[in-house]
Amino acid sequence: MKIAVLPGDGIGPEIMAEAVNVLNALGEKFELEEAPVGGAGYEAHGHPLPESTLKLAKEADAILFGAVGDWKYDKLERALRPEQAILGLRKHLQLFANFRPAICYPQLTAASSLKPEIVSGLDILIVRELNGDIYFGQPRGVRQAPDGPFEGAREGFDTMRYSEPEVRRIAHVAFAAAQKRQKKLTSVDKANVLETSQLWRDTMIDVAKEYPEVELSHMYVDNAAMQLVKAPKAFDVVVTGNMFGDILSDEAAMLTGSIGMLPSASLDKNNKGLYEPSHGSAPDIAGKGVANPLATILSAAMMLRYSLGKAEQADRIESAVKKVLEQGFRTGDIATQDGKTVGTKEMGAAVLAAL
Ligand code: IPM
Ligand code: MG
Repeated sequence: MKIAVLPGDGIGPEIMAEAVNVLNALGEKFELEEAPVGGAGYEAHGHPLPESTLKLAKEADAILFGAVGDWKYDKLERALRPEQAILGLRKHLQLFANFRPAICYPQLTAASSLKPEIVSGLDILIVRELNGDIYFGQPRGVRQAPDGPFEGAREGFDTMRYSEPEVRRIAHVAFAAAQKRQKKLTSVDKANVLETSQLWRDTMIDVAKEYPEVELSHMYVDNAAMQLVKAPKAFDVVVTGNMFGDILSDEAAMLTGSIGMLPSASLDKNNKGLYEPSHGSAPDIAGKGVANPLATILSAAMMLRYSLGKAEQADRIESAVKKVLEQGFRTGDIATQDGKTVGTKEMGAAVLAAL
């Protein structure tokens, strides 16, 4: 089995090194091939998603991705910025289903900014659509306003779009996921204002007929943002569009204590996937050896489970991570009073020892 390893920028290479050590320790015959992406891709080949990297990602059985982005590329034209690498991979490989679990580990309840009783035992799954919405909708651009009170002025515009089959396919993924869990699905939209959301909601209601065991409810995105901090445990599975999912998944991540703990999977219709930590490249702490590698290590576990059919190995990694938390190992982002603060390498070594 071939795994494309794309470390990227910032803390990407540091956290990826630990995940690769874990994969190599499993005793499986994986072929790991590394390629530059994001700012690193731009430096090496003049493009955030070089042809050779895209080719590797296409032919691999799964992709393990670190993080991309650095302030120093903010001045580049949009098409050359590091973020285009992840957006391009999602689009080219049709990775439309993004799974972002938010689990609050009992040992880390104190690291959350919310009261322990609100978050302890939290286990929600955000299913975010990843190929459509205002992220990719055409037309978009900057032009002279053709009408309105500011006619003639420079204006920026983007288009929010979802087609019915696009909503249907993410609905099926979300219902199927809910069926394997607590059977509660909350669809988040802004149907009180947006046409796109009305179509989204109508389609969800239609698909729900095929999943009679799953209880479907609807929530406006502003209310969902509020409920997530008020009573997050009321959620089981949340399904939403690309833009709302981007925002709500960061919010959900913080409930758990640290975004540094959360893996994610982005899957196509055949369960081929890209696996990445939910956090970004954190250029402010890059190279300091303090980043938390656990989200990337847990992403490798998700990869084994969803794309490579190695659920037992995934279990082993997840148990090892739980064990190091029990043993009190903590990187700075999840530091708790009773824990021992360690760096990236020590955390990786602790996971290897636990394995
Ligand atoms: C994410 C990130 C990306 C997104 C950026 C890096 C393009 O924030 O994966 O949530 O907006 O989807
Ligand atoms: Mg985001």
